[in-house]
Amino acid sequence: MIKKGIILAGGYGTRMSPLTKAVNKQLLPIYDKPLIFYPLSILMLAGIKNILIVVNKGQLNQFKKILQNGKRIGINISYIEQSKPRGLPDAFILGEKFIGKDKVAMVLGDNFFYGQSLTKKLKDCVKLNTGCKILVHPVVRPELYGIANIKKGKKIVSIKEKPKNSKSNLAITGLYFFDNKVIEYSKALRPSKRNELEIVDLLNKYRKKNSLRAEFLGRGGAWLDTGSMEDYYNTSIFVSSLENRQGLKIACLEEIALNYNWINRNKIKESINFYGNCNYSNYLKKLIK
Ligand code: TTP
Repeated sequence: MIKKGIILAGGYGTRMSPLTKAVNKQLLPIYDKPLIFYPLSILMLAGIKNILIVVNKGQLNQFKKILQNGKRIGINISYIEQSKPRGLPDAFILGEKFIGKDKVAMVLGDNFFYGQSLTKKLKDCVKLNTGCKILVHPVVRPELYGIANIKKGKKIVSIKEKPKNSKSNLAITGLYFFDNKVIEYSKALRPSKRNELEIVDLLNKYRKKNSLRAEFLGRGGAWLDTGSMEDYYNTSIFVSSLENRQGLKIACLEEIALNYNWINRNKIKESINFYGNCNYSNYLKKLIK
């Protein structure tokens, strides 16, 4: 069972400048919550309570201001600074001590997932014994993503970064589940031409050992990568449409923790005090009525 998770919440956020000049991308709002609430909710829904957040150097306090050590929402959050964005697998080198001898999940701080049976899928994924499992989802423009070719069942036979004329349209999303080999494999990676450790190179190490598998989000599921201005804006619209229609919040961390019995009503009251008089607090008040 995977009981630890990493959120990669650093990065330059170049495509979102000037928004990201003063504020880290993961702290910008997606409709009514900071972006980081959404990937954090994914790890929580998977049942993961031990979480390491990788942040840019100098931005630690911004994240601590909103999430602290996680106790208020029934989880343990620790933080580590990345001196510069050296690539996604750097998370496993920086996180070596945090991971220890365990398996680990990783979610990119700017990824948004939503959909029917998502929680069940996540709970299946954390049952991983060995190897690596990644979540894939179809896209219209494979040339913009890391793309997986899958033969029979869920085995991945090849992965390509931004392929032209790809037969497969299955993009590799920003949610991954790894066994403990991830530390050793990440340390053995060499930087690419753009001087970053590449997630595709890491996944290829697993593929070569025949231990890379895919899980499908399914057509009832939504995956949005909020890294570009347009996707970012559309994700806010998606969240506002759903929340205002059904009166249920997406990625309300306190609600997930309450449902999993990780916190009680008193902790919710603590959160209401913490957030102050706002719409989010009104929602929390309804939860404990
Ligand atoms: P990217 O989208 O690759 O990079 P970015 O967020 O810096 O944006 P841009 O391309 O516009 O400059 O990163 C994916 C996620 O991973 C994002 O949430 C930032 C995070 N990240 C890190 O925390 N450390 C890193 O070394 C890298 C490369 C990304």
